[in-house]
Order: sequence, then C-alpha cells, then structure tokens
Amino acid sequence: MASEDYSLLDMYEKAFPKSKKLYETAVTLFPNGVTHDSRHFQPYPIYVERARGSKKWDVDGKEYIDYWAGHGALLLGHGPEEVVKAVTEQVALGTHLGACHRKEIEWAELVIDIVPSAEKVRFTSSGSEATLMAVRLARTFTGKNKLLKFAGHFHGWHDQVILGANPPYEVPPPGIVKGVIDTTVICPPNDIAAVEQILRTDDDIACVIIEPTGAGFGTIPTGGEFLKQLRAATNKHGVILIFDEVISGFRVAPGGAQEYYNVTPDLTTLAKILAGGLPGGAVVGRKDIMELLEIRKDPEWKLHKKMPHPGTFNANPVSASAGIATLKLVKSGEPSRIANARGAMLRKGMNEVIDRHGLKWCVYGEFSEFRYLLEHDLPNTRAKDFDPYKYDYTKFKGASDPILSQNLRCGMLLNGVDLTTGGGMTMAAHTEEDIEKTVAAFDKTITWMKRDGLI
Ligand SMILES: Cc1ncc(COP(=O)(O)O)c(C=O)c1O
Repeated sequence: MASEDYSLLDMYEKAFPKSKKLYETAVTLFPNGVTHDSRHFQPYPIYVERARGSKKWDVDGKEYIDYWAGHGALLLGHGPEEVVKAVTEQVALGTHLGACHRKEIEWAELVIDIVPSAEKVRFTSSGSEATLMAVRLARTFTGKNKLLKFAGHFHGWHDQVILGANPPYEVPPPGIVKGVIDTTVICPPNDIAAVEQILRTDDDIACVIIEPTGAGFGTIPTGGEFLKQLRAATNKHGVILIFDEVISGFRVAPGGAQEYYNVTPDLTTLAKILAGGLPGGAVVGRKDIMELLEIRKDPEWKLHKKMPHPGTFNANPVSASAGIATLKLVKSGEPSRIANARGAMLRKGMNEVIDRHGLKWCVYGEFSEFRYLLEHDLPNTRAKDFDPYKYDYTKFKGASDPILSQNLRCGMLLNGVDLTTGGGMTMAAHTEEDIEKTVAAFDKTITWMKRDGLI
C-alpha cells in the first residue's frame, strides 16, 4: 500500500471511498458530521459496520484491531456469546416493560456484591446522569452548595462537571450560568495540600468528585496514596467523597479502583461496563445518602429531602440483561487481568519502537489504558523511562501536535488498527498476536511519517 509517490494522508484520502461518501452526507446532517466530539476526525472518519471480539470491519470491508473498546464500555470484547444471547432473549420478551422487573434486582445484587462501596443502587441511563445525581445527592445530604473537582477530570458533559475538564482548565465553556461557575472549585490534580487548604477555608463544600485512576481514565494519572489522603481529608471535614468509576469500574479490577486501592468512597458513579455495552449507569453508595431518593409521607421530607428522579430508561431490561451477563463474567477478575496484561505488553512494545526510532514520544498508562504523547519535553528520557507521575500535569491533555496525531491515526487505520485520540484501551478479547500486529503497525506508520518529513 505504501508508495514513494504518495504521502500517508494521500493514501488515506483514497483508501476508504465508502466511508468518505458517507461522511459527505453526514456533514449535511450533523455539526462536523459526527455524533460525539471525540469521533470528529479529518479528513473523514471510517464508518464501521460490525464488530466481534477484538476486531471491527468498516463499510469498505477493511478489518481493524479495535482500541476504542466501545468508549470503554467493553471489557470482554465485542459481542461475547453470553451477552448476545441474553440481549436477544430479552428483546423478544420486551424492550421496555414499563414496570419493575426481575432483572433489575439481579443486576443490582451483582453490583452490590462486586463494588465495595455499594450499599444501595439507583440505575440511570448514562454516566453523565449518574454524576449529576451523585452531586445533587451530596448537596442535599450536606445542605452545602459547592463541588470540588480536579483539573482535567472528566465526569460527563452537564454544567457543573464539565468545568475544568479540558484545557485551559480555568476557562469555563460557554453557556454555563455564573452561579454554577461560582459553586465549582477546580483544584490541581494530586495536590493534597491544595485540597486541604480549600476544605479548611471554605465551609460550603458539599462534595469532592474524582476519577480515581486520574483524569481521562489516567491521562493525568492519580495513585492510591492520593486517594487515601483524599479520603482522610474529606472524612475530617465532613465532605462527601464521590469516586467516578464510570470508566475504571469493573475494568481495573472487578470492584474498580476502590477495590484495587482499598479506598471506599461515600458514593460511586458507574456506567459503561456496568451495562455490558448498552446504555446504562448507576449511583451506588451509603444507604443514608441513597435514601434521599425515597418517597416518604412526611411533608418535610417531600419538600426538603426527597431528590426527584424519574428517567424513561432507568434499569432498562435490555441493558440489565447485557449488564448481568457481563458482570457475571467480570466478577472472576480474569477479564481485568487479561486486559491489564495486554495493556502492559502494548505499552512496552510501542515504547521499544519509539526508542528504536529515537523519537521524543512516549506511550504511558496503567491497567488497560495506553496514552501517547507526541512529544514530551524531558531531556535524555527514553520512552520506556517516562514517568507520568513526575510530569507537569498541564502538558498531558491536548499536548500532542495535531498534525502528528492525525497522521499517526490515519497511518494506523491504513495498517488495520483503530486508535482513539491519544491512545486507547485494551480488552480481554485482545490476543498477544493482536498486540504484536499493533506494534508492527506502529513501526510501519512511524516509518511513513519519517518518509513524509513529519518527524
Ligand atoms: C469518568 C467518566 N465519567 C462520566 C462519563 C460520562 O458518561 P456517559 O458518556 O455515559 O454520559 C465518562 C464518559 O466517558 C467518563 O469517562
């Protein structure tokens, strides 16, 4: 496929004619032609038709090793037999029963069994809805107004949590009212002294929310030591601690980061793997906080305590079926173990390629995550020695040169690998052979980028 006469981007332009055509229609329908910010891709994205295991196939018939992992919703891989069977059976029984059902009970029992902080459960339709609920519950429980969150940490797109999610962290996105901005305190990540200072001097903080493996799953990583310090500080000041385990939950270990680091938050938000690749989320946590969702006769309670929470698709039976089938398999710990091992193998292999090519890039991450930085500014540091815990946190998100990122992703697609913006996630379905092929594709793509004079 590679040619002396064509640049990598020229090759990409010509390689996927059916996707290109679909994109030409899509731009007439959707802003930017896409339905999720992170699917925005130039010159055009690929259109995927089906997926199985670790692979997916596009409309032009090309096969890819997939590292999107359903935006993190898939740990087992695409279409595990047990999940397909459970979902198919439920669809035949009814997609929305407009009623309580057995499967919501089985689903919640599994969640309580697996997630250490889960005393009670409330299902939502997405991770964003779960974080919205957790923050509101914390405000009601404490009678306080403010949320403390960390720069770079992503908790969905609703008003309060989107503040400080993307650089420049101090600039609020448009359309958010001043009152919300004034009640959101954004703290640098991993800085316990800054947290303590805020909690000491501001007695209106209701809760702290954190992605327990760090911003963007681990793009700016956070370790267990910080989580322990944060637990101690929030306990001391009577502030609710929320672990947003929408992405880390059931992934880094069956019970998520809270099990792995042995730190128990007051509330936990879940989604993605929870619903086995279908839409779904949940808030779980302390009974005395979760009971604020209860309907009671007491008029005082009705007016001042009860948090209203309808939601057409809460605990949808099809999502419940996929969730139950998935969690039964996840519970053993084996899927997390395999996905984590594949992640480590991939990071190592890609860093060896980078060092062989003498680039100042690196691939870092923990668990089933890999992130790339194209490039870092540490002198005399080989890719394999890059320590993200010692790097300036403001230089992670959005730091890679967009032209290099674009060429890398296009090159990887041409070589049969679908990366996300900035990295990807491994699944238990990835084989060692998939990882070897990915590392070889990375090597070839770098060679093309060198040939094109980009690096
Ligand atoms: C940590 C975290 N919280 C919340 C969300 C939002 O979840 P959803 O996309 O289901 O609304 C995400 C989504 O990527 C996430 O990674």
